[in-house]
Amino acid sequence: MGEGTGFGKTILFGEHFVVYGLEGIPCALGKKTTCAVEKIEGEKGYDLVDNRPIADDYKEKKAEEYDNIITAIMDHLKVESRIKITFAGDLVPASGVGASAAAAASLSQAISNEFNLGLTKEQINDSAYVGETSGSGTPSGIDNTAAVYGGFLVFAKNLEGGKNKIENITIQKPIEIVLINSGKAALTKEVVADVRKLYETKPEEIGAVFEEYKQLVEDGKQALAEYNIEKLAELMEKNQELLRKIDVSSDLLESIIILAKEAGSVAAKLTGTGRGGSVLCLTPGKELQEKVASAAKEAGYEITLTTIG
Ligand code: MEV
Repeated sequence: MGEGTGFGKTILFGEHFVVYGLEGIPCALGKKTTCAVEKIEGEKGYDLVDNRPIADDYKEKKAEEYDNIITAIMDHLKVESRIKITFAGDLVPASGVGASAAAAASLSQAISNEFNLGLTKEQINDSAYVGETSGSGTPSGIDNTAAVYGGFLVFAKNLEGGKNKIENITIQKPIEIVLINSGKAALTKEVVADVRKLYETKPEEIGAVFEEYKQLVEDGKQALAEYNIEKLAELMEKNQELLRKIDVSSDLLESIIILAKEAGSVAAKLTGTGRGGSVLCLTPGKELQEKVASAAKEAGYEITLTTIG
C-alpha cells in the first residue's frame, strides 16, 4: 500500500492577486488529509473510500469535482490498473481550506509510493496541480503548493509557464488562528472569472488595487520576518479592504469579520476564494483564540482552531 499526505492551507496575503503573478503568502494548517492507495483486482479505474471528517453536504456537492481530480491524476501518472483510494486525516474538508488540493497532493504521493514512481516533491506538486486544474479551471497553484510543501511560503505563479516561485519563510513561533467557516461554498472558477471580468472592465481602477497590493505583500513579508504581530494584523485588514475592492467579499463574510473583531480578534479577513468559504482570524495566544472561537460557535459557525508557522 502506498501512502501520502497533503496539508490544508490558509492564505494570509494574496488570494486572487496570485492569479496575476503577484506574490502571495499561504501557510499550511496543522491539519492534513492522508491517502492510502492499493492496487486491486479489476479493470482500470478506482474505488473510493472517504473517511475524512466531512462537514455538511460537501461530499455530494463535490463528487463530480473529485472524480475529475482523481481521473486526471491517474491519467497524468499513467495508472493503468484498478486502485482502492482511501482518504482520511484530520482536515475537515470545508470550503476555503484547500481541501481538494490536499486530497490531490496526498493522492499523487500515495500513487507514487504504491507504484514506485519515485516522484520528487516538485513532480508531486505538478501532479496535484493537474488534479486542481481539472477541478477548478485555471488555478494559480497556490493551494496545491501549500498542500505539498507545508509551512509558510512565498508563492508566485510564473505567468510565462516556467517554474513558480516557492520560498520558505520561518517565523519565530507559531501564531494561534481561528478559521470560521461561513457554511457557504463558493466556486473558485466562477469567482476568479468575475475578478477577471472586473479587471477587463475597469483596468485602471483594478490595476491601482494590484499596485497597492504589491507594496502590501512586501510589508507583509517584513512583518513576518520581524514577528511584528501588530503590523501583520494591520496589513491583513488592509488586504481585506483590497479584496472588497475586487468584489470577492460578501455581506455574510463581513458580518463574520465584525463578529470576530468584536470578540477581540486582532485581524480578520476572508481566506481563499471568498464570497463564502472561511474567515481567517488572527488570535495570538490560546486565551484569545478560545474567546473568538466561542463567539463564533455561539453564533452557530463551524470553526477550526490551529496555528500558523
Ligand atoms: C484559492 O484558494 C485562491 C485563489 O487565488 C485561486 C487561485 O489562486 O488559484 C482565489
